[in-house]
Amino acid sequence: MRITILGSAAGGGFPQWNCNCRNCAGQRAGTVRAKARTQSSIFIQPDAGADGLLLNASPDLLQQIKATPALQPGRALRDTAIAAVLLIDGQIDHSTGLFMLRERNGKLPLWCTDAVAQDLSTGNPILRVLEHYCGVDRRRIQPDGTPFEIPGLAPLVFRAIALSSKAAPYSPHRDAPEPGDNIGLLVTDPRSGKTLFYAPGLGEIDAQVFDAMHQADAVMVDGTFWTDDEMQRLGLSRKTAHDIGHLAQSGPGGMVEWLDKLPASTRRLLIHINNTNPILDEDSAERAEVERAGITVCEDGMTLDF
Ligand code: MLT
Ligand code: MN
Ligand code: ZN
Repeated sequence: MRITILGSAAGGGFPQWNCNCRNCAGQRAGTVRAKARTQSSIFIQPDAGADGLLLNASPDLLQQIKATPALQPGRALRDTAIAAVLLIDGQIDHSTGLFMLRERNGKLPLWCTDAVAQDLSTGNPILRVLEHYCGVDRRRIQPDGTPFEIPGLAPLVFRAIALSSKAAPYSPHRDAPEPGDNIGLLVTDPRSGKTLFYAPGLGEIDAQVFDAMHQADAVMVDGTFWTDDEMQRLGLSRKTAHDIGHLAQSGPGGMVEWLDKLPASTRRLLIHINNTNPILDEDSAERAEVERAGITVCEDGMTLDF
């Protein structure tokens, strides 16, 4: 399978439009060595050149399509390589790009859990609005680990597990989490036997999540915040990473420590990186620390084949 990182930043992107934190201001001015990044999305194809699955529909989707020729093969007057879309949650940064696909010919195959479909029909009724355009062919994901296939994506096999994270702030049940508000996805290519674990929003690593990470040859996981109080310390929010459903990377029990427990052969990648995270600065001590731990900080446009 081929994986293309379309967007490696968290909500807001990097630099964020209204932000003048050290990273954002430094990136704009060229005084901090850091690459700009669009909001969270990846594309998975069974083979390079084949149609693929869009994992999360970012508000930056049109920019991502322009930057990625594989998404526009140009075989017909109206064409796309996006065979289907799968949402791992209903957050703004993962779902509002659906509006950008409204000119599509025919209903958009959209894979998501019941919890996400409900949020996207109530608190943020994107699916209802799209009925006035291309319409949505909604396919149910059960977040219980059962293998499923997606038409057009053969021979890839998918499994979803429920994660402890957070429903979107607009969700009618933001404070009453339901299994399926957030999922982690295992994608296996039976030809190579290789598996990717993708979880850009991961609040907690329980036994089931760690088992899924263990099964994977590559884990692409929540890289949102370096410290739990990152936004508080900068005076940007009163909430911790944990409050909004993200496990910070540094310190005891942090993501770096968890990744260190995986087999040496597992590829470790951080994605969904918030603009405040010091790992974005290629010259920072924090970036050096993750690199020493064998962890790749995802960038837009990166591809992985396995
Ligand atoms: C999150 O995952 O918490 C988000 O990136 C929030 C957002 O999209 O604003
Ligand atoms: Mn997000
Ligand atoms: Zn910033």
